Amino acid sequence: MALAKAWHHVWMRARTLLRATAAVGAAGLGYAAIVERNWFALRRYEIPILPAGAPSLRILHVSDVHLTPGRHRLLSWLRSLDATEPDLVVNTGDSIAHPDAVGPLLDALGPLLDRPGVFVYGSNDLYAPELKNPLRYLWRTSAADHHDDRPQLPWAELGDGMEAAGWLNLNNRRGRLKAGDLDIEVAGVHDSHINRDRYDEIAGAADPAADLRLGVLHSPEPAVLDRFAADGFNLLLAGHTHGGQVCIPGRGAIVTNCGIDRARASGLHRHPAQGDADRSWLHVSAGLGTSPYAPVRFGCRPEASLLTLVPGIS
Ligand SMILES: [Fe+2]
Repeated sequence: MALAKAWHHVWMRARTLLRATAAVGAAGLGYAAIVERNWFALRRYEIPILPAGAPSLRILHVSDVHLTPGRHRLLSWLRSLDATEPDLVVNTGDSIAHPDAVGPLLDALGPLLDRPGVFVYGSNDLYAPELKNPLRYLWRTSAADHHDDRPQLPWAELGDGMEAAGWLNLNNRRGRLKAGDLDIEVAGVHDSHINRDRYDEIAGAADPAADLRLGVLHSPEPAVLDRFAADGFNLLLAGHTHGGQVCIPGRGAIVTNCGIDRARASGLHRHPAQGDADRSWLHVSAGLGTSPYAPVRFGCRPEASLLTLVPGIS
């Protein structure tokens, strides 16, 4: 009788613990899916990179919007970004996640499209999202799951829309533009995550006379960053990592979904990570969205970044 009572007591304790764990899990999931996923942040950085005496330049960096037409909070936050009055807008790809997303995206970019801009594609601009086990990122990157027979998204229409507004398409291309009062050499590659990058087609030393030499890529793959840096591109902008998307508070990203180290999964860093003082600056955006099949963010708010470039070299 005493034994049965003891077992009953243990069972009741275990059941209470299980219920509490399930409640905490459900609350965490609800927070990640509803609250944090829509808790957009504008990150601000100052980068001492311009020649002495040059006027400052404001770059708005957006990435990984992964837009589906029903994301009204995201659309309205995007629409508000023109108030940051950037001199140049850089979109590092993965903009859409639905066949009908191009129109709403271009509409939300709105007046930003009237400003100088550049863009590259990410793999998710080309292919429709697929339902996968999100935990697989813990042991391999999504490149391992890629296959070319996935349904395509209207990436050409997306690119046409941005180019029609005057933005430069930097998918394996170089160019030159004026933003603010600065002369900027730009170069970019298509997404290395699905082997679309062709750095050899854009290789060559950047013009040291340009006020800024800007390299743009979706996936911050170290081997590609090395080539931009070796060619003298002194500011490199990338996305793709989602900053880890689900992070351990105080410890950061668990995975980056590419070759970049976890310490540089998002934010402003240098490339190479160690070495001489004249290394390139690297900004990796944690991005604004998520795959519709993994609609959660934890410890890693969705973001856009306003980079203010100021004189800092002689
Ligand atoms: Fe993405």
